[in-house]
Amino acid sequence: MSALPSEATIPRRPLGVMAALQQELGDLLIAMRAEGAVETITHGKRDYHIGTVHGAPCVVTLARVGKVAAAATVSALIHAFDVEAVVFTGVAGGVGPAVRIGDVVVAETLMQHDMDASPLFPRFEVPLLGVSRFAADAPLTVALAAACERFIDEEGDALSQRFVTEARPVVHRGLILSGDQFVASATAVDLLRAAFPDALAVEMEGAAIAQVCYEYNVPCAIVRTVSDTADAHAPASFVTFLTEIAGTYSSGILKRFLSARG
Ligand code: ADE
Repeated sequence: MSALPSEATIPRRPLGVMAALQQELGDLLIAMRAEGAVETITHGKRDYHIGTVHGAPCVVTLARVGKVAAAATVSALIHAFDVEAVVFTGVAGGVGPAVRIGDVVVAETLMQHDMDASPLFPRFEVPLLGVSRFAADAPLTVALAAACERFIDEEGDALSQRFVTEARPVVHRGLILSGDQFVASATAVDLLRAAFPDALAVEMEGAAIAQVCYEYNVPCAIVRTVSDTADAHAPASFVTFLTEIAGTYSSGILKRFLSARG
């Protein structure tokens, strides 16, 4: 007989699930409480909720906004909560010419667009790490994109009727930019397009999470729903999208992603 415990008796390490703002988490905590006991631990001025959602053991938390907040939070998920992998959900500004409000962007790679230690290091490269583009985990990203596609297939028509455009939302995969700026002018978004011709979206946390996960060898995946197009209309569009619809996307995507995993 083997001395090792069987697979069934090894407790599964949880998945870390993060968003910046409460509206970006959708009904995840409600679903967690409906499914069983939830333990909440406060650590570094954040609440970490430990339980099961859609059959998957998870630690759910809010990072708040920006790269430092995101890095601190994902670091705690890794070190204090021993998560197996990290998934981040939220909204972003559309940058790619084909990316429209209501579309979904799943990160394949992420860069910090405001990292610039030139001429000491190449622009956009994280000094001493020698990396400028961080890759999301491929299998986790495939599973997350599949959940997004299922969500849009099943709920996309209703979503576009309810909220945004005549067109059904599209799921894009590729480069997401992150920086400590809310991008809200045609000039600023044009500069991003010129510097990163393949960028799809811009937000304020993803590349920081990807960097920490890279440094600790923890798989991560990041999904963003496009709330605005990072131009002068962005502040108003962001607020409307965040309060009226962001949660519907996150809930629908995470439900499908976690059920398939659970
Ligand atoms: N998140 C959502 N929209 C954004 C924008 N325009 N700039 C930065 N982060 C965002």
